[in-house]
Amino acid sequence: MSLIFLPPPLQQINSEIARNADVDLYVLRLDLMHPWVNGNKWFKLKYNLLEAKEKFTTLLTFGGAYSNHIYATAAAGNLFGFRTIGVIRGEERLPLNPTLSFAVQQGMQLVYLNREMYRQRNTPALQEYLQQRFGEVFIIPEGGSNLNGVRGCTEIVSNAIAFDHHICVACGTATTLAGIALSLHEGQRAIAFPVLKNGAFLAQEIETLLTNYLGSGLPAPYNSPASWELVCDYHFGGYAKVNDELLLFSQQFTQEHGVPLDYVYTAKMFYGVMDLLKQGFFSKGDSLLLVHTGGLQGNVGMEERLQRFSKI
Ligand SMILES: Cc1ncc(COP(=O)(O)O)c(C=O)c1O
Repeated sequence: MSLIFLPPPLQQINSEIARNADVDLYVLRLDLMHPWVNGNKWFKLKYNLLEAKEKFTTLLTFGGAYSNHIYATAAAGNLFGFRTIGVIRGEERLPLNPTLSFAVQQGMQLVYLNREMYRQRNTPALQEYLQQRFGEVFIIPEGGSNLNGVRGCTEIVSNAIAFDHHICVACGTATTLAGIALSLHEGQRAIAFPVLKNGAFLAQEIETLLTNYLGSGLPAPYNSPASWELVCDYHFGGYAKVNDELLLFSQQFTQEHGVPLDYVYTAKMFYGVMDLLKQGFFSKGDSLLLVHTGGLQGNVGMEERLQRFSKI
């Protein structure tokens, strides 16, 4: 199932800030694996698709109107021959934004749930209702955040160079971090940058994810997670919130290093890493691997919204 995907290139970043800190900086460009199904999305979908393929012809999943997961699931469904249904949070807005019009072009059927109903998306009652309405469907949770998702994420850096000390990743539900933490060698450490406000609560979620995964019998390269850490200071006001400083950083980083960043996830993590480097957070001689988890499709919608509020 991975034949059409390119192995993610590793790009070294030659930055004065890193040189001053005497730290080596690399980016694992998951954004370049495939034009549509890339980033952590591919890894979270992979084992869900493999499980679905055994018995189902239809995938049903959930997301917001700008969701990277909806975008990737629509494209993956189309590539691998599934019918897809996207359950979208909130009311329908026409014309469709770029994320949802892409999903429809890929053949995804969109269904809207008001916010109150959407909140019940993981309850048996709502899932039964959806099964009755759409027939036998394979349900993938929002963001691909289940044990299949964690399993896929154990493969993100498992082949990456063993000398990296710190693996840095943006964090929403922490599914990606959990998979990475399960796949690291001794001496490596995962650092997650929550993109939502008050992200410290994720520590408990991560413990639960790791315990559930290790209890599930699914393959775990080392059977115990590596050390991990949350750095909660770079949320920029909360999920999908941005300010001029972040936008400017993102544009400059892209210009200097040729790495495009998305505003919701990777820009915040990259900003955080560069800021920590300036503060001497890392030790001399350390090497850092920044995982580019994709999400660039979301910039189109974000830039349109920012222009509407004339902030960019
Ligand atoms: C581009 C991108 N980066 C990072 C994340 C965070 O991943 P997770 O929810 O597994 O923490 C997401 C959300 O899935 C994402 O779309």
